[in-house]
Amino acid sequence: MQKIAIFASGSGSNAEQIATYFANSTTVEIALILSNNPQAGVIARARQLQIPVVLFDKKTFYNTSKITQILQNEQINLVVLAGFMMLIPEALVRAFPNKIINIHPALLPKFGGQGMYGHFVHEAVVAAQESESGVTIHFVNEHYDEGTIIFQATCPILPADTPADVAQKVQALEHKHYPAIIAKVLNS
Ligand code: GRF
Repeated sequence: MQKIAIFASGSGSNAEQIATYFANSTTVEIALILSNNPQAGVIARARQLQIPVVLFDKKTFYNTSKITQILQNEQINLVVLAGFMMLIPEALVRAFPNKIINIHPALLPKFGGQGMYGHFVHEAVVAAQESESGVTIHFVNEHYDEGTIIFQATCPILPADTPADVAQKVQALEHKHYPAIIAKVLNS
C-alpha cells in the first residue's frame, strides 16, 4: 500500500477530489490530512471522508520535528500539498526528497512566489491581460513555488473574464488533473 498525506489550509476541495479518486484503490491510501487551520473546511471534509486529521500550530511546524516524525511513523510515501498556506521547513523537505508535491493555480514561473495565492493569483493574471492561465503541479523545495515542474495544463482567458471566472476554470483543471498526476508520481 502506498500512503499519501495531504496538507491543506482551506476549503479542501482538492483534498476531497484526491480522496474520492483513490477511495476504492487497493494500492493507494490517503492516510492523513494535516492542517494548520482548525477552522478550515478541509477538516469537516476529512471527517466526512473518515480520514484521520492532524492539526498543528506554527511553532510545532517550524520549531520541532513532530510533523516529520508523524509522517515517518505513518510510512508516508508521498506528501501532497493542496491549498496549504505555509512554507515547508527545510528539514521536512530533506526528510522527503522529491516526495512532496504542490499544485499552484497559475502557469509557473509566472504568478508565483510569496503572496501569490488564492484570488491574488487570478487578479494578477487578469490585470496582466494574459490570454491563458492554468495549473502547475511541481515538486516542493524550501522556496515558494520553485521546485521542478511535473505537469501544466492551460485554459483560455477571454477579454471579459473576471478573476472569479478564471478561478472557476483553473479549479476545474485542478480537480481534473491533480489526482491522476499524483497516481503517476506514485508509479514513477
Ligand atoms: C487551489 O487553488 C490550489 O491551487 C491553491 O489553493 C487552492 C485550494 O483550494 N494552492 P481547495 O482548498 O482545494 O478548495
